[in-house]
Amino acid sequence: MKKNTPIGADVRIHAGGVNLDGILSVPASLIGLVLFSHGSGSSRYSQRNQFVARCLHERGLGTLLFDLLTREEESIDIQTRQIRFNIELLAARLLDATRWVMAHASLSQVPIGYFGASTGAAAALIAAAEVPKAICAVVSRGGRPDLAATALARVRAPTLLIVGGADDFVIDLNRTAQSSMIHTETKLVIVPGATHLFEEPGALEQVAELAGDWFEMSLGHNTARQQQGESMDVVEAIHHRNATRSFSSALVPDAQIHRLLSLAIEAPSAKNVQPWSFVVTHDKALMAELSTRAKARLLRDSSSDLMGMRDQLAEPTFNIFYGAPVLVVICSTSKEPQAARDCYLAGENLMLAATGLGLSTCPIGFAWSVLADDDVRKRLAIPEDYEPVLPIVVGYHSAQPELAHSRNKVDLLHWD
Ligand SMILES: Cc1cc2nc3c(=O)[nH]c(=O)nc-3n(C[C@H](O)[C@H](O)[C@H](O)COP(=O)(O)O)c2cc1C
Repeated sequence: MKKNTPIGADVRIHAGGVNLDGILSVPASLIGLVLFSHGSGSSRYSQRNQFVARCLHERGLGTLLFDLLTREEESIDIQTRQIRFNIELLAARLLDATRWVMAHASLSQVPIGYFGASTGAAAALIAAAEVPKAICAVVSRGGRPDLAATALARVRAPTLLIVGGADDFVIDLNRTAQSSMIHTETKLVIVPGATHLFEEPGALEQVAELAGDWFEMSLGHNTARQQQGESMDVVEAIHHRNATRSFSSALVPDAQIHRLLSLAIEAPSAKNVQPWSFVVTHDKALMAELSTRAKARLLRDSSSDLMGMRDQLAEPTFNIFYGAPVLVVICSTSKEPQAARDCYLAGENLMLAATGLGLSTCPIGFAWSVLADDDVRKRLAIPEDYEPVLPIVVGYHSAQPELAHSRNKVDLLHWD
């Protein structure tokens, strides 16, 4: 054993009303953490998963092996064999375990990957599709990704599908599933001669090697990016951006805000007029006051668009800025409609750049009416002939991962 081999600690994870036992192992030089999603009839003691976990530790990867079912559920499942195919339940448990890891002070910034076997791989893919920002890589061993069905098209994490060469039926299922994973990088590797459980001499070693390389590349790359402050490419940023509604209290360095503004103004504008100016405020008291005023007005005015959030807006503690540390308001320098359009383009640049730099954003249309008030314009130094066009909050997302919003199909009206 190498010197950074960790000792596993017994942990208990609260998930959907039950407690699940797990073993958390964290090597000294941690580059990422892999959560194991075991197959049907297995547990945190799976010999095969424990072997793979030990190999990952050697590479600086931490692991969390945990039971997807309680003891009681397991004994019911032995009789009925039904709970093991309740993939949605298994995925929900994996998501709870993911949130547990992210809420752990010393692990909250560590890139996370999933290693799923058999039906556990389907649960891993569904969970990865639910929290695309949180999961950096997935490896499936002898998996049933087909059981993840429509979630496959929403997976953003690079996914390695490892299948035994003698596991013909599962090879076909993996091939078909791979073709549905249109929004991420995927790779299918067939281990020659191996059967479903990789029991042949050397087969599991190959799985561990392949999984280790995949996680090292994906999670290690993420750690390096965090440390070096590098940004992701634009396609990745487009995939990863989403409206964040839960922010941590961490402050955004001024240099990052300046960087975002300088990237926002790279946007195109009609005749290159660049009709934009920016307000940046960190004033929590002002944001709280604007939120209270905006909520009262939105609820009072029967014509306002509450975006299906009436109940939340009526909540006294709900803040329309979601506790974000910074509010940026993109203002147009004229009241021409084209100026507003150009400002929206600058806003999209800003939000994608923020995603690329590891920040989160949400446009806040709920603030429109209050930003137009004379006293607010004065306090934010917005000139009379300027128009506040797009308020955007910026910050670091909290431990709670965001759910991805699905997209409708491309609506093609004409193509010749
Ligand atoms: C102009 C505009 C105004 C928005 N205003 C709000 C808002 O006031 N509050 C909010 O929570 N989300 C707001 N959103 C975010 C949208 O709800 C969100 O973009 C949409 O649900 C799609 O989700 P996604 O951005 O995560 O893909 C706004 C988005 C836009 C483009």
